[in-house]
Amino acid sequence: MIRNQLYIDPMVMKIDTKRLIIRPWLQEDKKPFRKMSADMEVMKYFPNTLSSSEADELIDRLSVLIKKKGFGVCALECKQTNEFAGCVGLHDIHADFHFAPATEILWRLRPKFWGKGYASEAAHACLKFGFQELGLDEIIAYTTWNNVPSQNLMKRLGMKYSASFMHPQLAIEHNLCNHVLYKLRVQNYRGL
Ligand SMILES: CC(C)(COP(=O)(O)OP(=O)(O)OC[C@H]1O[C@@H](n2cnc3c(N)ncnc32)[C@H](O)[C@@H]1OP(=O)(O)O)[C@@H](O)C(=O)NCCC(=O)NCCS
Repeated sequence: MIRNQLYIDPMVMKIDTKRLIIRPWLQEDKKPFRKMSADMEVMKYFPNTLSSSEADELIDRLSVLIKKKGFGVCALECKQTNEFAGCVGLHDIHADFHFAPATEILWRLRPKFWGKGYASEAAHACLKFGFQELGLDEIIAYTTWNNVPSQNLMKRLGMKYSASFMHPQLAIEHNLCNHVLYKLRVQNYRGL
C-alpha cells in the first residue's frame, strides 16, 4: 500500500529502531496529532494547547523543514500496532536564543506511550543520526524548569545541565518562562 506521505523524498530522515519508526509525516498523522496537541496533560509545560488548525499548520511547517534540510521533527510510529505515538527529532533553534546557532533534540509523546522507554529509544536514534549522519559536534535540549519527565530523559541520554535561562519568546512573569538548558557533546555520547 502506498501511504499518503506529505512529502516523498528518499533522502530524508527515516529511522527504524527496535520498537519504533521515526519518519516524515503522513496525512493520517493529522488526526492523532490534533488530539495530542489539544491534550492538557501533554501540553502542560507549553504556554498553550493547539487548535486543530494550528496542529495541522505545525505538521505542514515541520514537513517543509524536513524536505528542505533532510532532517527535522518527525512522526513517531509504534511498529507493533502502526499507531501514531508522537513526535521526535532534531531542530535548528531560532536565533532569538542566546545559545544559537545550535541543534536541539525534542520529543512529545501521547500519554499511552509514556513509561515504556519509547522516548529514550527514539531520542537515542536521533542523537546517533545527528552525530553520525549530520556530523554535529553537540546537540542541546531545553525545557521548562518544572518539566521533570523531560529533564529525566535528558539525564538518561547522558546530557549535562548547562544553564538556566528565560525563554526569549515568553513574558518574564509567565510561570513557564524559566527554562533549563542541557547539552551533549559527540565525544560524551555513550549510545543506547
Ligand atoms: C517527556 C516525555 C517524552 C518522557 O516520556 P517517558 O515515557 O517518561 O520517557 P522514556 O521513554 O525515557 O521512559 C522512561 C520510563 O519508562 C520506563 N520503562 C519501561 N520499560 C522500559 C524500557 N523497555 N526501556 C526503558 N525504559 C522503560 C522507565 O523505567 C522509566 O520509568 P520512570 O519514569 O517511572 O522512571 C513525556 O513525558 C512527554 O511526551 N511529555 C509531554 C510532552 C513534553 O513535555 N515534551 C517535552 C517538552 S521540552
